[in-house]
Formats: sequence, structure tokens, C-alpha cells
Amino acid sequence: MNTVKSVRELRAAVAQARAEGKQIAFVPTMGNLHAGHAALVEKAAQRADFVVASIFVNPLQFGPSEDLDKYPRTLLADQEKLVEAGCHLLFTPDVEEMYPHGMEGQTRVSVPGVSEGLCGASRPGHFEGVATVVSKLFNMVQPDLAIFGQKDFQQLAVIRTLVRDLNMPIQIIGEPTVRAEDGLALSSRNGYLNAEQREAAPVLYRSLQDMATAIRAGERNYSKLVVTAQQQHDAAGFRPDYLEVRESNNLHPATADDQQLVILVAAYIGNTRLIDNLAFDLNTSA
Ligand code: PAF
Repeated sequence: MNTVKSVRELRAAVAQARAEGKQIAFVPTMGNLHAGHAALVEKAAQRADFVVASIFVNPLQFGPSEDLDKYPRTLLADQEKLVEAGCHLLFTPDVEEMYPHGMEGQTRVSVPGVSEGLCGASRPGHFEGVATVVSKLFNMVQPDLAIFGQKDFQQLAVIRTLVRDLNMPIQIIGEPTVRAEDGLALSSRNGYLNAEQREAAPVLYRSLQDMATAIRAGERNYSKLVVTAQQQHDAAGFRPDYLEVRESNNLHPATADDQQLVILVAAYIGNTRLIDNLAFDLNTSA
């Protein structure tokens, strides 16, 4: 695997792969890679001949009180994992390479609708930062397909919408969340949890499963389910951010008639904010 830091080197390496007739897959990340990221790269390697990954901790998507400075940087370990998962080219630009004219006057991409509410409400500007950096990365790499985790369900909806609305010829693939044995969704932020918090954390996913079971059994009083789940979260030491049932295609608040649903949660334990979701279709068992 070749690691490059400049857009010029990135473009040269991708152009060579293209000239060899290769299909290009892209997996953008912020590093501190875990088995969830490895699954995205493995999927990319199954779907294309040449896999490009990026590691860039994007300041534009962090709020002023968020964890930009303490976000873990683990390049050597990340490179090993990427090689093992089948990555061919790693792009690790610094902030000056990504934003050579500064971030203040940087052209922004904003995706109305799906960016609003949920994480968009508690992290103002976050999805504009994500949509802007992903658009830039897509223009730099120009992949045939790009792979994202379904753990960031709203982010995936934002990216699907931006690709559609800006006519980008890129296929977007969402990959299922990889979980620890006790159900906790793998996340770079799990590393911030102490032993006690780590033990408590699986309550989030368990409560989503309980809610989905109740909805499948006919319950449509979503607010009642939310109250019960939040009591479980409180008892485990979580402070709520949001817990909502939405229609999974457009992220509108779910009605009693909707069949394709997603339950999304964000909650704090100590200073760490965890998110998770569970999408399901009432017409099928999946
Ligand atoms: O999901 C992430 O790691 C980031 O939001 C992304 C898509 C790499 C953009 O910085």
C-alpha cells in the first residue's frame, strides 16, 4: 500500500490505476481504525480492483466544544489494518492540503432536510462540514463507488442526498454496523470509555432491539417506547441527547403507517457521546 499526502500524488496514483482499466473504490475515514472500518475496506476490495482510503480528521465537522484535539491519531496501526483489509492507496492530507485557502472562506456544501434534527440539531454545522469534506474528497479521488458505515445513519443519508443532488457519478454503498459481542457498536469513541462505562454502554443497542420488537408486535405509541428506553439509559448512567423513531428513507418522524423504520439514539456517558441505530422493515423479518 502506498501512502500519499498531496492531492497531486493522489491524482497521479488514481490516474495510473484508471489507465490500467481498474474500478476505483473509496473509503473515507478519520483514522483510529477498528474492525468496522476494516469491514468497509474489505467490502471495497470485493467490489473494485483498486481501493483508496483516506485518513483526515476534518476540523470543519467538529464543533468548538468537541473532541477535535483529543481525537486519536494512530497512523502506523491504521496503515497495518488497511494493508490487511486490502487497501492499495492511502491518502493522509494535512489541514493545509485540504484547506489551502483557509476554512473561513471555504465553499461549503449543505444538504437541507436530512441534515436537520437528530445529530444535526445537537451538532450545528457538523453535516455541512461532512458534506463539504466528502465532496472535496470525491472530487480528488473521483471513485466509481464509495463505502460508508450504517452506524452513522444520518451521515449516510446526507451523503446519498448530496451525490444525487450534485449529479456525482459515484455509487454509495452502506455497510452494516460491526458490533462487539455484547452488542455495542464499534466506534473510535469507545476508546474514551472507562471499564464501568464500557460495561454499561450495550444498554443502548439492547433498548433499540426492545423497541423494534415492540413495534413489530404492533405497538405504535413511539413516545411511550422512547420513555421506557430512556429510563433504562438513565439507570445505566447515560444522559440523553435524542432517541427517535423515523422513517428510514427520508428520516421524517415515523407515523403509525410507515413500514420502513429506523430508531436512532445519541446519548452521553461521562463526556463521551455515543450514537447507534437500528433500521428494520415491518414487511420483512430483516
Ligand atoms: O464518518 C467519518 O469518519 C467522517 O465523518 C467522514 C465521512 C470520513 C468525513 O470526514
